Amino acid sequence: MKQIVDQLRDEHAVTAEEYRALLTMRDPEDVEYLMTQARRVAQQQFGRKIYLRGLIELTNVCRNDCLYCGIRRSNRHINRYTLHREQVLACCEQGYQIGFRTFVLQGGEWGEDRSQWIAELVQDIRRRWPDCAITLSLGEHPRETYALWRESGADRYLLRHETRDERHYGLLHPTAMTIRHRLQCLDWLKELGYQVGTGIMVGSPYQSIRSMVKDIQYLVEFQPHMIGIGPFISQHDTPLGRFPAGSVEMTARLYAILRLALPKVLIPSTTAMATLQPDGRLRGILAGANVVMPNLSPSDHRQMYALYDNKATLGAESAQGLNILAEELSTIGYHIDWSRGDSPRL
Ligand code: 5AD
Repeated sequence: MKQIVDQLRDEHAVTAEEYRALLTMRDPEDVEYLMTQARRVAQQQFGRKIYLRGLIELTNVCRNDCLYCGIRRSNRHINRYTLHREQVLACCEQGYQIGFRTFVLQGGEWGEDRSQWIAELVQDIRRRWPDCAITLSLGEHPRETYALWRESGADRYLLRHETRDERHYGLLHPTAMTIRHRLQCLDWLKELGYQVGTGIMVGSPYQSIRSMVKDIQYLVEFQPHMIGIGPFISQHDTPLGRFPAGSVEMTARLYAILRLALPKVLIPSTTAMATLQPDGRLRGILAGANVVMPNLSPSDHRQMYALYDNKATLGAESAQGLNILAEELSTIGYHIDWSRGDSPRL
């Protein structure tokens, strides 16, 4: 096992069989070796710095109907909201004062009739905070829309591929959605000069080791700047609401494998990790993650952006609780880095 870990660390890829072995190995000593190597590589690249992104949940209105997601169109049990332009700018202002230099506008997928509104919002943010990175995470759109937003000043885009296995993708999404189109969007985003992030949920319903191997191979081939991965957590008003949650252990293991495969990639230790276990976020960092995305959304809207049940929104998850986060990080010898934290590949 250690030989496979060493090979992945030195050559940044191994065979499908070897990825499978890394995903399924059980000896705690082998797992610890993987984690230690991943942590060492992360520290060589980034020191013990953790980059911050201020997450602003723009809207829970969505035209899509993904079977796992709490803000899917068919869910009639949630109140829908969209932040006003002024509310978004107030979040940015508050974030900037605290020290954030990256804003992530995330939300459900809207129709193209509202793309111009987003473009103007991006322009406003770009003008007022020229030294900040603007990240969008707003789903699938035509190439022209991505181009418009890029020209308006957006630097980065997050769009998880969710699963590289076509059949599995079909079990998680309505028939109108295809993995082919998702990958097409990711290619467009890269061509347009965005720093692109993609990724999956770990332990999503019907996921197999085989499909996770395909995910790793796709990530190695696509070479994203960022990788967003978190455990699946069911949401009770969705068709997949009765499936068990993914595990923090398997998610951390995937962070470690991907850190060795893509040493320079930015990996957030995600909110879903902190939701499942109090020390989930730290375990992600100890497996090679190097980013945290605290919530900058207005606190009275956070509960409405319920992608899954019991989402962590307080304490170290919130921008207001940064001292808690800093304190937490210091217990494992890490600290917040206040720069924009661009991809070192640029
Ligand atoms: N559990 C975990 N993650 C989820 N997401 C959506 N629904 C869930 C859920 N039930 C993730 C998806 C999406 C991202 C914004 O949130 O991977 O890409």
